[in-house]
Amino acid sequence: MPLRIVVTGASGQLGAYVLDRLGPTGHEVIGWSRSAPGHRAGFPIEAVDLLDLEAIGRAFERAQPDAILHLAAISSVDQAFRDPKAAFTVNAKATGFIAARASLMGCRVVFASTDMVFDGLRGWREEDDDAEPVSTYGASKKEGERQSLLPYPGLLHNAVVRLSLLYGPSRIEKPTTLDRVFDALRAGQPQAFFADEFRTPLDYATAADGLVRMVEERDHSGVFHLGGPERLTRFEMMGRLALHAGLPVHLISQNRQADVPAPEPRPRDISLDSTRIEEALPGFSRPTLEAGLDRCRAEP
Ligand SMILES: NC(=O)c1ccc[n+]([C@@H]2O[C@H](COP(=O)([O-])OP(=O)(O)OC[C@H]3O[C@@H](n4cnc5c(N)ncnc54)[C@H](OP(=O)(O)O)[C@@H]3O)[C@@H](O)[C@H]2O)c1
Repeated sequence: MPLRIVVTGASGQLGAYVLDRLGPTGHEVIGWSRSAPGHRAGFPIEAVDLLDLEAIGRAFERAQPDAILHLAAISSVDQAFRDPKAAFTVNAKATGFIAARASLMGCRVVFASTDMVFDGLRGWREEDDDAEPVSTYGASKKEGERQSLLPYPGLLHNAVVRLSLLYGPSRIEKPTTLDRVFDALRAGQPQAFFADEFRTPLDYATAADGLVRMVEERDHSGVFHLGGPERLTRFEMMGRLALHAGLPVHLISQNRQADVPAPEPRPRDISLDSTRIEEALPGFSRPTLEAGLDRCRAEP
């Protein structure tokens, strides 16, 4: 059955992939973003600043959605550290407001969270493990999770999907981290990556597919992990992707987290176990690193 879906963060890196994935589905989609770049995949993108709760309320009234896929966030760890007030307002307070509004309208919320809610002391985390973030960003997203799963009256099966580190080429004007690394390699610039930080990287296209499936499968509620099938260091990840793209891999070297001072601790191993979402979504598959890059490069 076609749904009316609001996608927040529609102008972001993941939002572009999500709207492309929704394009041929027959769902009616309205994107929200702070900057409102117009249209994507035939869907309108409206300006709705999540710092303005009244504006969110008005946009809800106009949209009358069945479901909201909530991607919008202060998504940079550095930015969240520099401006914790904005991070908590967008990532947590606005999320709570959206969940409360949604419950009044019989609208289901799927909230995109992050592997950064974990402290990194051990890997292959499962959904029921304690989340103890070590960064402002992780703490703000953990609070967003709590707010989106509050038992509001009439709340319909809300879901939190914790995403692992995402990679792939940008489909918007702003480059992704991977684009910047590939550009630097093409320019002959050496690049160093942590050999002591472990993630389960996932390509943007598969992340978008999993999130859209979670919106469509209305009975799934609670927390789900969505990472790639392989636990890799950033060094392994970038080396393999560069090799696959035919770029000069010899320019890539390894360093350690301790070599690069940071204002907040960096989690060491936040690999995610994604068994639960695979069992919940029949036929859903997560590609290897290289196949994920190919999937992102394919025409939407
Ligand atoms: N990328 C990753 O590796 C990764 C990993 C785990 C989880 N996630 C989660 O996935 C989601 C999407 O990430 P992304 O990489 O696509 O992030 P992104 O490229 O930084 O996009 C962020 C989006 O949020 C919107 N936004 C920010 N502040 C806003 C505000 N005050 N009002 C309205 N919209 C606002 C931005 O709109 P404008 O463009 O108009 O500013 C943009 O559309 C986030 O929730 C993030 O926490 C990402």
